[in-house]
Amino acid sequence: MPKVLLLGIETSCDDTATAVVRGGVHVLANVSTNQDAFHAKYGGIVPEIASRRHAALLSAAVDDALSRAGTHLDQLDGIAVTAGPGLIGSLVVGVAAAKALAFATGLPLYAVNHLHGHLFAAFLERDAPPPYPFLALLVSGGHTQLVEVESPTALRIIGRTRDDAAGEAFDKTARLLDLPFPGGPALEALGRTGDPKAFAFPRHRPDPGTLDMSFSGLKTSVRYFLESDTGKDARREDVAASFQAAVVDVLIDRTARALDARDYRAVVLSGGVAANGALQSAFLALGERYRIPAFVPERRFCTDNAAMIAAAAERRGDVARVDPLHLVADPNLPFT
Ligand SMILES: Nc1ncnc2c1ncn2[C@@H]1O[C@H](COP(=O)(O)OP(=O)(O)OP(=O)(O)O)[C@@H](O)[C@H]1O
Ligand SMILES: [Mg+2]
Repeated sequence: MPKVLLLGIETSCDDTATAVVRGGVHVLANVSTNQDAFHAKYGGIVPEIASRRHAALLSAAVDDALSRAGTHLDQLDGIAVTAGPGLIGSLVVGVAAAKALAFATGLPLYAVNHLHGHLFAAFLERDAPPPYPFLALLVSGGHTQLVEVESPTALRIIGRTRDDAAGEAFDKTARLLDLPFPGGPALEALGRTGDPKAFAFPRHRPDPGTLDMSFSGLKTSVRYFLESDTGKDARREDVAASFQAAVVDVLIDRTARALDARDYRAVVLSGGVAANGALQSAFLALGERYRIPAFVPERRFCTDNAAMIAAAAERRGDVARVDPLHLVADPNLPFT
């Protein structure tokens, strides 16, 4: 697809996001309405509230993205929407809107896996995109996996968490530290003045013969520590920094192991946790150690956004194209 202009729609969780992207790279508009204020008092995302907010906001969010990009529906080349995985009530709002727009305009409709979106975020606003084959470390609120990317349409998961996602571990540990929702950024901010070596929390590698990871034991050990006599008096900043160091160590160790097993031309970091500064630094250092380029998306493209959905649709082209009458949102959409 040469320099196509795509509208992206992303409503898989709690961000109502729209974007206009040219050629899968140039972001003309990237609009996201954060619902944090509506979920904060519950300490987590309430699915019913999320879908109601999407229904209330999406139409205006589409208009907003088009007007910021200085374009109109009739100048687009297609519409890309997240079809899954995610919360079903949230997904159906975006999918229904995208189907209606595609049907009314006759524009092609592209169904995008949310996780493919995270991966292709690394291509946004880059002159030189990651060369294939590359290794991707995808770390988000619901997923943590290593992906071998042979081409835009040949992706294979080669390692994954056996229990909690890294983002989930950040969020749950943040709650133990009485930090506000969403926990990941709050925990990073607290840890900034802490000592990452203050406490040696465990680094779990569930099966050394695989590239799999585990984070639930780490979260539990922080909980037991905080309940212990030493933990009660520990500086919260040190606990946050030490927890974060343990997560980063596990992620970097598994990624290094994958890089040992095969020659990749690049290594790509993606997903909401990719916004974490300590992880970004360690990841860039890893690229230097293996002498391959390391790609980290801009922060605004790490957490959920619609630009990444348009980028993935552009890269995957006809493989992602679907009939607007038949697309169905799938909360468990498989990765392939
Ligand atoms: N600076 C940060 N440090 C650590 N974690 C962070 C940071 N910023 C965001 N996160 C974490 O990233 C997660 C959100 O990422 P993302 O929006 O990609 O997840 P999601 O869309 O809910 O899950 P998925 O993509 O797996 O469906 C949350 O767990 C959040 O705490
Ligand atoms: Mg996400």
